[in-house]
Amino acid sequence: MDRITSKQATVGVIGLGYVGLPLVKTLLEHGFKVVGFDVDRTKIEWLDTGHAYIEHLGQGFFDSLRDSADFHGTSDPSALARADAILICVPTPLGRHNDPDLSYIRECTRMISGILRPGQLVALESTTYPGTTRDELKPILDESGLECGREYFLAYSPEREDPGNAGRRAGDLPKVVGGVDEVSTDLAMALYRQVVAEAHRVSSAEVAESAKLLENIYRSVNIALVNEMKGVLDDLDIDIWEVIEAASTKPFGFQPFFPGPGLGGHCIPIDPFYLTWKAKEVGRNTRFIELAGQINTSMPKYVVQRVHRALDESGVPASRARVLILGIAYKRNVDDCRETPAAEIISQLTQLGCEVRYHDPHLSEFPRMRRYRFELASVPLDAAVLEESDCVVVVTDHDDVDYELVARHSRLVVDTRNAMARVPAEGLKCRVVKA
Ligand SMILES: NC(=O)c1ccc[n+]([C@@H]2O[C@H](COP(=O)([O-])OP(=O)(O)OC[C@H]3O[C@@H](n4cnc5c(N)ncnc54)[C@H](O)[C@@H]3O)[C@@H](O)[C@H]2O)c1
Repeated sequence: MDRITSKQATVGVIGLGYVGLPLVKTLLEHGFKVVGFDVDRTKIEWLDTGHAYIEHLGQGFFDSLRDSADFHGTSDPSALARADAILICVPTPLGRHNDPDLSYIRECTRMISGILRPGQLVALESTTYPGTTRDELKPILDESGLECGREYFLAYSPEREDPGNAGRRAGDLPKVVGGVDEVSTDLAMALYRQVVAEAHRVSSAEVAESAKLLENIYRSVNIALVNEMKGVLDDLDIDIWEVIEAASTKPFGFQPFFPGPGLGGHCIPIDPFYLTWKAKEVGRNTRFIELAGQINTSMPKYVVQRVHRALDESGVPASRARVLILGIAYKRNVDDCRETPAAEIISQLTQLGCEVRYHDPHLSEFPRMRRYRFELASVPLDAAVLEESDCVVVVTDHDDVDYELVARHSRLVVDTRNAMARVPAEGLKCRVVKA
């Protein structure tokens, strides 16, 4: 406790990805020494050489990490022994049958167990179902022979990182903190209180785990609701975007959510199913979660149908159409393609016989994905490419795309994000179909 409150503590961060690296940044900014650990040796080499492997964090951040005397990046687990607190930020994906894949968490907990020493605090930040910290991590850490709550300490504090949103930095967001016992909660609170705007104490790790799932399920369900409404309003020839803007003038009881081409990223399409799996254990169904999942995963098909219809109306058979996808990242202003709906949209358009190209200022090549392999590289966004395209489909509305250029040189734009609304009405010469 003394080492934490006097900021003499060294903090270990395990998993140097989209969540771990911003956390490293926050800890360093608040004067802690940080040991960053990742099993991916390439990432450690990149950190050593200042290679910016997560674009939105900026080259300056990677330069400062490379030069910092307070940061040590490593793939050597023994380096974590000197950490007073160890924060775990490893992936929590789904398995083949939508069941939680805790293999990354278990693997790194076994590693920590091997180096655990008296006085260390371990906190899990990865998103997971209630009970993981106590039922999965604790038994593995207990194998070290140390006693939880007396010799080592264990807590859960979910991450709320919002990649690509420059206005929301990790340290500005309140953090929920719950330990497996009171002393563990005290210690974790003391640490997080030093580095985030507000640390919100809850009575157990299970409450903290459930709070994170509630946050993400809330998003998934509300996005599904607005996606469903979009389908209905499209058929009624009513603009969903104008409807949302109007409803948002209500100062209470309404929070806007926006339709899109389907969910992406490492959180919203995945996390809700962690609760579904846990619910089955107590004989419960999660009908909202499953319905939202069905609606959201049907969105790429909906977009492709709209493209198909719009091409037909323009007299271009889909089997001969050239389609340009604008944006393949799962959301605006990031270089992250995980679970991106662009992959399913491209796959279905290709099956229709379309020749598909893409432009994304953040992704020069379409990365290999678990279920998709495309040999595609980003084409430049210029007048010639736009004029050659029978249809431009806005899948991701990155800010650094010239939508006025798109409006000037395209014939048909299918817009899933209302991005073309950025173009002044007098500049909109092309046909725009909102989908
Ligand atoms: N990305 C987000 O926006 C976000 C937001 C909130 C919460 N989360 C949650 O945070 C967790 C991490 O997500 P992420 O997006 O940072 O993932 P990521 O894939 O970007 O990073 C995870 C890192 O962990 C490393 N790793 C894997 N196994 C390891 C092990 N055994 N030991 C050490 N390192 C290991 C990987 O090499 C990778 O660098 C997930 O549970 C996710 O649901 C993510």
